[in-house]
Amino acid sequence: MRTIGVLTSGGDAPGMNAAIRAVVRQAAALNMEVIGIARGYAGLIQGDFRRLNTGAVADIIHRGGTILLTARSEEFRTEAGRAIALDNLRREGIEGLVVIGGDGSFHGAVHLAKKGMPTVGIPGTIDNDIAGTDYTIGFDTAVNTAVEAINRIRDTATSHERIFIIEVMGRHSGQIALAAGIAGGAESILIPEYPVDYDQVVERIERGRHRGKLHSIIVVAEGVGSALEVSREIGKRTKLESRVTILGHIQRGGAPTAFDCLLASRLGAHAVKLLASGASSRMVGIAANELVDRDLETILQEKKTIDPDLYRLAEVLAL
Ligand code: F6P
Repeated sequence: MRTIGVLTSGGDAPGMNAAIRAVVRQAAALNMEVIGIARGYAGLIQGDFRRLNTGAVADIIHRGGTILLTARSEEFRTEAGRAIALDNLRREGIEGLVVIGGDGSFHGAVHLAKKGMPTVGIPGTIDNDIAGTDYTIGFDTAVNTAVEAINRIRDTATSHERIFIIEVMGRHSGQIALAAGIAGGAESILIPEYPVDYDQVVERIERGRHRGKLHSIIVVAEGVGSALEVSREIGKRTKLESRVTILGHIQRGGAPTAFDCLLASRLGAHAVKLLASGASSRMVGIAANELVDRDLETILQEKKTIDPDLYRLAEVLAL
């Protein structure tokens, strides 16, 4: 294999640049050329290609976002769109493709692999909602950002003796909420993987107030519903006022943590080695700190589960 392509697709995640850099530099070490594709599958259809040499990825490891830009392409969901994309890849002499993104992006990678274009996926999403890997690139940074925000909010919540409902991202997954909620010392953590128990939320607020606690922090995963709804429900039941903060896209930006830079570097290099060895339709990941790779189609059918011990720990620590 002489030339490979790389693209980032779906929501961006801190650490994607570190992964692009690792792909380019590992490829150079194996005497392969890398072509960067702008705006994910949309750029693949438009033929928006740029050659990436080792210098082109200098000074990006620490930057958030993605230098290749990203998009969610409707056209690529159609057969016609995919046929154009495949033609463009072949015309450019690309013999294998690294796809950095989440589950939507990996469906595209499976389609291309079925049409004869070897693909390897690198899990890049803050949501950490992909099976087959303990962590996705960007999750650690997003959790750190959320915890920093929770700690800031706690200061003002304490001063005003207030209840705060903090909504975090994660799409249908509660991974960010659970990790940030535990690390941020939240009283209650509401995630879509477990039924919401308002009686318990209210009981914790009241118990905290009885023992002189000045604030209550409730972390809500966006997959549960709106934090405003949660605030209204708590207000109805307690007659207490609460404030709502929706962290939103702040969680997607910023410099990647060292953990994410290291993870992205390892996964990026591993993906290139896999392509070079003739693998296709695989996803690289990390399990118990070891590099692993799994069949892409299989992991897309699996659901990443919440660690039940972690959920129980959250319950115990909030007492
Ligand atoms: O998948 C990453 C993510 O940030 C989710 O947590 C969130 O639901 C979604 O993307 C937001 O997407 P957009 O930036 O298109 O609004």
